[in-house]
Amino acid sequence: MPNVVVVGAQWGDEAKGKVVDYLAERADAVVRYGGGSNAGHTVTAGGEVFKLHLVPSGILHAGVTCVISAGVVVDPSILVREIRDLTMRGVAVSNLRVSGQAHVILPYHRLIDGLEERSRRRSAIGTTGQGIGPAYADKAARRGLRMGEFVDDGRRADAMRVRLEAANELLTKLYGHEPLDIPAIITEYDAYAKELSAFVCDTAPLVAAAARGPKGVVFEGAQGTMLDLDTGTYPYVTSSHPVAGAACVGTGVGPCSIDSVVGVAKCYTTRVGAGAFPTELTDSIGDHIRERGREYGTTTGRPRRCGWLDTVVLRYSAMHNGLRTLMLGHLDVLSGLDTVRIATKYRMGGLETDDLPYDLAAREDVRPVYEELAGWSEDITSVSSFDELPEPCRAYVARVEELIGIPVWAVSVGPGREQMIRLPGRRIVT
Ligand code: GDP
Ligand code: IMO
Ligand code: MG
Repeated sequence: MPNVVVVGAQWGDEAKGKVVDYLAERADAVVRYGGGSNAGHTVTAGGEVFKLHLVPSGILHAGVTCVISAGVVVDPSILVREIRDLTMRGVAVSNLRVSGQAHVILPYHRLIDGLEERSRRRSAIGTTGQGIGPAYADKAARRGLRMGEFVDDGRRADAMRVRLEAANELLTKLYGHEPLDIPAIITEYDAYAKELSAFVCDTAPLVAAAARGPKGVVFEGAQGTMLDLDTGTYPYVTSSHPVAGAACVGTGVGPCSIDSVVGVAKCYTTRVGAGAFPTELTDSIGDHIRERGREYGTTTGRPRRCGWLDTVVLRYSAMHNGLRTLMLGHLDVLSGLDTVRIATKYRMGGLETDDLPYDLAAREDVRPVYEELAGWSEDITSVSSFDELPEPCRAYVARVEELIGIPVWAVSVGPGREQMIRLPGRRIVT
């Protein structure tokens, strides 16, 4: 197995968890490189559904080292709960490792996330409320708390007190909020720190060694390219870098160690939260996709906004991530439509363009230009080879490849491991 980055090519929830689980079978390590518990990665195996927020999606494979690396922001209360839940369901977590350089989400981050959203009023981002933005802001301002210090019994209480006192100043003076109960939080977090200390270490040498080994590493992206702090629809984005390049920041490898980048996309588009979405459907087709695809958030349960596939977005994603190949999923969801559409270009200010405008979030004049293709009506959820898919469905995949300019390595027809279908002759390293 080469070293592969799995990255969301759209606005998140593309089924990265499923692809990582699939590839992890032959890997030595799986490394989550960004985001926090805003992520919700679903892995369906043996009829059981696992919704992972912080634990890497390789955890169901015994013998695979699962690393939460420096770029992730870790909410100890959520990680402890996730570890307990997995253990209760018979999944061993002894191969989990957490970087001592990963930053800690404390209760005030979550609180401030909510308060900032309220103060944005009509321009609220629709965050997941997990404290992600405030935690990354503290990291960038060089006042964050890292996991290494958090699990150190000699330093934790003082480190937390200083930060909680500063947070209380902000909460009471700026937001008129009640101050947090500092001793109670320190006591609560003592218990989390004790439970997590066994997992915290210097993870970079482990990842570097695995990347040099024969089995290789899967780098698990969270969120998606269009939610990236720089490449996404700013300011309606998350506060980290979901793009593939971030797999080489603080994980233990540099760019020359990466053999391939796999983009994950649905054959339509979804978005949770506010912000630009040129191909959004607010009609019965949008409802068809939401209901058939069960498009409700894994983390928040919110209904996802749904729309046609946007290949302007996918070309943009291919460029920013250096995509070598694509996993195009959820083909089963489009079954039952007479025709299906693909956005091939945008029309803006009377002109047509193939490229995504850098200021998409601020533009009101962007209209997708669609191409209409024949739909397919069959239930394809038990199809196991590409050749058995209905002809219009195969033609759809071929047209997407043409429009994006990169090969599709696999498609999927349902959430299960066995519902991933490899395309004949296609490889991850191209
Ligand atoms: P992630 O955040 O990228 O890992 O994706 P999520 O887990 O948030 O969302 C993907 C959802 O689609 C999950 O509920 C999966 O179980 C489900 N899913 C994955 N692949 C397919 C597919 O091919 N067809 C259908 N119908 N559902 C799928
Ligand atoms: P996975 O890894 C879909 C969205 C939120 C909001 C914006 C900012 O499961 O694909 P945040 O809480 O990060 O400050 O919210 O980003 N968002 C996601 N949308 N999938 C995700 O993760 C997301 N993580 C954040 O809905 O619009
Ligand atoms: Mg998700």
